[in-house]
This record gives sequence, structure tokens and C-alpha cells, in this order.
Amino acid sequence: MHHDARIYDLETTGFVADLPYWSALLDQYNPTKVLDLACGTGRITLPLAQQGVRDQGAFQIVGLDVSQPLLARAREKVAQASSAVQAAVSFVEADMRSFCLGEQFDLILLGFNSLAYVYDLEDQLACLGAVRRHLAPGGRFAIDLLVPHLGFLEEAQVGGPVRLEVDVRSPEPGIRRFLRTATERYDVITQRDDTLYFYEIYHEDGRHERFTDDLAWHMYFPRELELLLRMAGLRVVERFGSYARAPFGHRSAQYLWVMEAMAPHECPHHR
Ligand SMILES: C[S@@+](CC[C@H](N)C(=O)[O-])C[C@H]1O[C@@H](n2cnc3c(N)ncnc32)[C@H](O)[C@@H]1O
Repeated sequence: MHHDARIYDLETTGFVADLPYWSALLDQYNPTKVLDLACGTGRITLPLAQQGVRDQGAFQIVGLDVSQPLLARAREKVAQASSAVQAAVSFVEADMRSFCLGEQFDLILLGFNSLAYVYDLEDQLACLGAVRRHLAPGGRFAIDLLVPHLGFLEEAQVGGPVRLEVDVRSPEPGIRRFLRTATERYDVITQRDDTLYFYEIYHEDGRHERFTDDLAWHMYFPRELELLLRMAGLRVVERFGSYARAPFGHRSAQYLWVMEAMAPHECPHHR
């Protein structure tokens, strides 16, 4: 899962739909210290760094990820940026279920469904607890997470159909076409969706690469997510259901929720 930086960047080629949403959060909250959890190859980190450096002199952003290869790619990208951006960005190799950075942040973001890669209750609470401890007073925690779709899960319960998800032509020099198809199997007890991906890469020189990869997703239902956040001492303060900031509602496909830390006496574990 997500350990090949080249494949990760190929499969997210051209995906920028979420960037205006994160940019608007920066405008709204004017953070000077940001933590991009599960930052991968810096797809979100870098544009936010550019915006923060442009709008606020003292802006700092830390990208945290568990994957060394993805972080190496992120560092390569930052090395191409301006010296001001380079000075504003740092990366940490750590697990979002147990990180301890010794500093706090005005905004912590966990984008592109990345909370779905934390599967067990204890790990989910540990991750959210670590987030809360890293929030500066008045800080915000923002997530972008898939809302389970019942029709999709019903199909996946018996082994879903094979879907073409990515088909890009000339994503980078030397590659003529990149394709990704996927099929899923959903377990109603664990709420875990195991996806099997099939990749095909057609190179300009005639080579044809084909391989598979597996990735599991935890499906968070709305009340479950709310309870986990509360248990971790986080209160939801804004609920959007789309990158265009539509209010969260019955047809929303995403949780674009923003949280703040509860005061210690309000936290469930202090009661
Ligand atoms: C869908 S990618 C998102 C990357 C990036 N935020 C983006 O929007 O392109 C999910 C990321 O979560 C990271 N990840 C998965 N489990 C993790 C963990 N336990 N701790 C930290 N990062 C993790 C993966 O390495 C991967 O980079």
C-alpha cells in the first residue's frame, strides 16, 4: 500500500479538486503552523506552503507520513521550490497512530481519506488523541474522509465488479498510458473494505508493466465518527459535505469536518 512514490504520483496525476478547499481553510484560519498528516508525496503540503509563505511571513508546515519512499519524493519536490518555501517545509517519518513531535499546530489536516487507513478502534482513538495533543490553543483539525455508500458496500460484500478508476494518457515523459482498475470486498463486521488494484503501464518504448496491489479502508459511519472524535476530546465545529463547502447532508459523499479540542474538563475521559 502506498509505498511506491512513482505509482502514487501517477495515480493522482491531475487530481487537484481538493486543493481549493484546503486553501480556503488557510484563508479562514490564518494558521502560521500547519501539520499535514499522512502527507504522502506532498501533494497538499506544497501548494499550502506556497500560499502560506506568500500570505504570512512566518509560515511553517510539517508533513508527516509513515512511508519513507513517499517522503523522499516529497523532499525532492520541495527542493525544486523557492528558498522561502524550502525554509517553511519540513517532513517527519512517523506513524499517525503514535506521533509525538514536541510542538503544537494551529491547523492539522488529514486529507484524501487518510483516516481510512487506521483500522482498529484503539488505533483510531490513539491517532485522534495524538492529534488533540498537537493542537495549539484555538487550533483546528480538518479531515477529508469518504462517507460509506450503502449501494457500493452491498455490492462489495459479495465481491464488487471490476471498475476502471484511472486512465491517463502521457502522465509523464516516457509513459504513453497509465490505467488502474479495482475490485473490492467489504466485511460488515470489521467495516473494512479490501481493495485489489490492477495496474497497467504502457511505456513509449513498447514495454508493458502489469502488477497488482492491495489497500484496505475502514468505512466510518457518521455516528461512529462523531463518537470517536468525542472520545478523543474533539468537537466538530464545521461540517461541509463537498469541496465547494456545501453543508454536510444526506447525500454528502465526504466528511469535510473541522474540529477543535474540548477543554480538559469536557473530555469524556476526564469525567
Ligand atoms: C491517500 S494517501 C494521501 C497522501 C496525501 N495526503 C495526498 O493527499 O496526496 C495516504 C497516505 O497515508 C499514509 N499513511 C498510511 N498509514 C499511515 C500511518 N499509520 N501513519 C502515517 N501515514 C500513513 C500513506 O503512506 C499515504 O501517504
